[in-house]
Amino acid sequence: MNLIDFDHNFYGRRGVLEILKKRVMGLKEGYRQNVALLGNRYIGKTALLHRLMAQMEDQDVFFIYLDLEDRDFDHFATQFTKSLLYNYLKKENLPPLQEDLKLLCIAAKERLPRTVFLVQAIADLAAQGKVLEAYHMILSLPEVFTQETGRSVVLIFDEFGHLENFNIPEVFAELGKRIMTQKNCLYIVASSNPQQSQTILSEKLSLLFGNFETINLDVFNFSEAQGLIDHNLEGIKMGLHLKNFIADFTGGHPLYINLLCQELICLSGVYSQQEIYAPIVTQAIENVIFNPWGVISRHFELQINTLTTGKSAGLAQRVLGALAEGKHKISDLSESLKLKAAQVNSRINALQDSNIVERNGNYYHIKDKLLSYWIKYVHSRRLRVIDLEMGRSRKQFKDEISRALNDFGMVARKDLCARVADLMHKFDNESFVLCGRRYKLSTFKDIKVLKLRIGAGNYFDAISADSQEGGWLVVLKKDPVHDTDLSGILEEIKKLDPKPLRSVIVSLSGLDENAKVRALQEKLWIWDEDQLNCLMHLFDEPIIVR
Ligand SMILES: Nc1ncnc2c1ncn2[C@@H]1O[C@H](COP(=O)(O)OP(=O)(O)OP(=O)(O)O)[C@@H](O)[C@H]1O
Ligand SMILES: [Mg+2]
Repeated sequence: MNLIDFDHNFYGRRGVLEILKKRVMGLKEGYRQNVALLGNRYIGKTALLHRLMAQMEDQDVFFIYLDLEDRDFDHFATQFTKSLLYNYLKKENLPPLQEDLKLLCIAAKERLPRTVFLVQAIADLAAQGKVLEAYHMILSLPEVFTQETGRSVVLIFDEFGHLENFNIPEVFAELGKRIMTQKNCLYIVASSNPQQSQTILSEKLSLLFGNFETINLDVFNFSEAQGLIDHNLEGIKMGLHLKNFIADFTGGHPLYINLLCQELICLSGVYSQQEIYAPIVTQAIENVIFNPWGVISRHFELQINTLTTGKSAGLAQRVLGALAEGKHKISDLSESLKLKAAQVNSRINALQDSNIVERNGNYYHIKDKLLSYWIKYVHSRRLRVIDLEMGRSRKQFKDEISRALNDFGMVARKDLCARVADLMHKFDNESFVLCGRRYKLSTFKDIKVLKLRIGAGNYFDAISADSQEGGWLVVLKKDPVHDTDLSGILEEIKKLDPKPLRSVIVSLSGLDENAKVRALQEKLWIWDEDQLNCLMHLFDEPIIVR
């Protein structure tokens, strides 16, 4: 049985890692582009930054990693100075390496007299409680260090918004000024509070507006999630259908995938199974998500408790419950909760501010798919149900998971055309943003699945649908759509009478560049796998599996 080594289990994120590496290499070549890495809590920002440092260990650059979350100023000052000297000595192969600041200073003094002088002055000022002076000096440390060593520094501030807690006047403005002048120092800041960070970057660090490249980290996409599952299970067999189910069920969240896989590995050991089958999957889900002391269950409970304190706690819980039940519009929420729209609005806004709920058009969703599932099937029930028969809720939950697994299998077997037609039945004049582009949907009254003949004997799956504003034609292809395919599709559209108001190309593998440009020129909409799965999520449908 191979338990997951959580410290060395990093997987994926290749695109973001490549960008960050490029920025570090750019710094060495005299081109500096600071980066802000934003993403929800537990999404993997810290793991990514550690991975970057591990992969670039051999490079001639000094990384200083500072975790500011819930730390006080003294900790910040000590972490900063110690890391700088420690990393220098390590890179220069100057043992013995110590962790004590005084000993580090002694070891580095000869080579870095100015830096060490500054470090000692910072320690003295901090000890005297002269925080402002110490802070200013800390900010000048990278510059002195780079002058003395001739090397570049990458300074990583994890949860940089917490600098605010030091109660230092103009804490960001001061940082901003230093960032402007220290051209040999690359700043990577990370935060789990995207709104606060945007404000800091655009207002408080206003000098630098535009100077930070923003990278948003989100959950894993479907194939990355599948990859992480394989990586975790390392040789333990599990059917593709079960893997796909877990990728969908966890919403692609790496932390949940890890925790669930860990449980699967343990259970397969307990039951001496060489392959994981459905009963072990349901058992693992029960253990980590249903059991009140299951690790994901506890994690969600803590999250909900911090969100729903105070007078309106009950109301927030009910709003979350209704969202998890699939009520996504203010009107539906207020109707089901028997509340005024204004009351629902204020709760929803608070939940949005806490990054739990997101809005797309007039739809509201709980961002975290598994949290939404837990609220619906575990939490709301615990609050509501009186369990006279011991173990009934547990049995009910198990049955629901088994049903969800079966349903997932059935839906996955449906072909793409049927899935998209089912989805279109749910459209109701919404207006959504998918992958940065706004799409206005219609309400359809007549949806037909058909075959569209393109050229000589080449047929494409298609869907025609009527709405009050006009007809839609949706052409679907699992494989990439090439330029020749597009020519055929455009020709067919021209022949149609009446001409469709809207034509959409659904391609799971995308379009080649020429076809894409032409399709956009002809005002066709293109929905690839990401956009389609975004729609599936908005309408609470399982994602499309290729
Ligand atoms: N790329 C990844 N590969 C494997 N596991 C990952 C990956 N990213 C995140 N994880 C898992 O998720 C956990 C949480 O990640 P991490 O602490 O990096 O998140 P974070 O965004 O920094 O969270 P916070 O906002 O709380 O600081 C990790 O301990 C790890 O188990
Ligand atoms: Mg973190």
